[in-house]
Amino acid sequence: MSSAKSHFDQPRLNELFDDLNATLKDFIRSHQVTYKEFHQALAFLGEVGEKGETPLLFDVFLESTVDLVNNSERGGTATAVEGPFYLPGMPELKSPCVVPHRANEPGDVLFFSGTVRATDGKALPGAMVDFWQADAEGAYSHFNIPQEKAPFNLRARVKADDHGRFEIQTWVPSSYEIPKGGPTGALLKALGRHAWRPAHLHALVQHPGCEDLMTQIFLQGDQWIDSDVVGAVKESLVAGMQKHEDAAEISKRGLKGPFYTLEFDFVLPRGMQKAA
Ligand code: DHB
Ligand code: FE
Repeated sequence: MSSAKSHFDQPRLNELFDDLNATLKDFIRSHQVTYKEFHQALAFLGEVGEKGETPLLFDVFLESTVDLVNNSERGGTATAVEGPFYLPGMPELKSPCVVPHRANEPGDVLFFSGTVRATDGKALPGAMVDFWQADAEGAYSHFNIPQEKAPFNLRARVKADDHGRFEIQTWVPSSYEIPKGGPTGALLKALGRHAWRPAHLHALVQHPGCEDLMTQIFLQGDQWIDSDVVGAVKESLVAGMQKHEDAAEISKRGLKGPFYTLEFDFVLPRGMQKAA
């Protein structure tokens, strides 16, 4: 573990710690927190650590607010939280491409395509789109599916073409229920809240000279779109899929049944180039 010292300068640490501590003391006073409740909170946090759910707990209840305060002034496509399921080292593919998938990948085929541009409207050839999602059964590869069964399933780093266009063949994701078996799920249940996120596609879009874009595209019509447990939905990130049932179109794509398309352009603010 790196020490707190390497992440905070001391005045900032004092400012944040003192206010957090004062806020919690106010909270204890104003709600007349009992010894029993105090010990329940301690036991809960202990279990969160023990079960490895610290990232999940923070992502569910706090990350969307961190995203809002850090990105309110930004231009281009709206940002959304990274969540806990990004994986480095994904296979690099060139657009157009098919993401890694299983022989009998469940659900319907989806062609996700668009253009990556800068806020001045210029296309960004060679932009990198890191792409990941849950499958049609709501499972993320490597997290909900053992890695050796489906390496990098429905994940890829996709390089946009010379016109900044990308086209990714994938499979329509389903809504995602966050793990219910641990303390985070138990807390949601005790609160009487559901644990669902609307179906979404994750993307981290990068181009030299532009600011990185971390975002999610949400599928219009999903039943959880207005009650995301993580609170990360932004209206401009909700997009509708088109269904294609025409036999000629289906065979032209080399498919066996109806498929969907989703078109979404990513717009990146011009800015400082990130160190590699
Ligand atoms: C969270 C984010 C996700 O994208 C997801 O699929 C599950 C959970 C989160 O922020 O907790
Ligand atoms: Fe997700």
